[in-house]
Amino acid sequence: MRRLIGSKKINIAVFISGTGSNFKNLIENSLKKKSKFKINLVISNKSNAKGLNYAKRYKINKKIISYKNIRSAERNILHILKINKIDLICLAGFMKILTNNFIKKFEGKILNIHPSLLPKYKGLNTHLRAINNNEKFTGCTVHYVNSKLDSGKIILQKKVRILKKDTSHKLAKRVLKQEHLLYPKALKKVLTNL
Ligand code: GRF
Repeated sequence: MRRLIGSKKINIAVFISGTGSNFKNLIENSLKKKSKFKINLVISNKSNAKGLNYAKRYKINKKIISYKNIRSAERNILHILKINKIDLICLAGFMKILTNNFIKKFEGKILNIHPSLLPKYKGLNTHLRAINNNEKFTGCTVHYVNSKLDSGKIILQKKVRILKKDTSHKLAKRVLKQEHLLYPKALKKVLTNL
């Protein structure tokens, strides 16, 4: 990754597929005075992703990528990342799995946020599975992306207590609040170690 020299900021692309609350939160953090990063680009595989509205509001370059053919989709993305001089990728609710080939090209420069205390509950429906297993705690994890799903090196985690009356919806809401604190913290950690 490009080293942080002087006041030069790290250029970040956020990948989304849906609501984009983490995307919005990262933008707002990037606008803080002492922020070491800039959100230059958002990539979505869905043209109707609600989160794309934030691109308009905050004047961030957006690209919608058709995933009919994964190879050409990724080739396309790599090209766009290059043009936009992107240093780091933050996945935030991106519902496509990146190929090994893509990950290799951005080795150590892709972060993801996952709504569980990894290595527990990889994949989907994490909250429902945690509740059904009578877990006392769940949480969220920011980790590096490697070739195995939700298995890369953990950067930071935050625990959230599961309450007796929790539904997966209620729990998701509380975990999401913590995600919004955790992702910028994890980014800061990654960037200060550069
Ligand atoms: C978050 O719960 C995140 O952990 C998961 O997908 C969800 C995205 O939410 N990977 P949002 O689109 O950022 O609101």
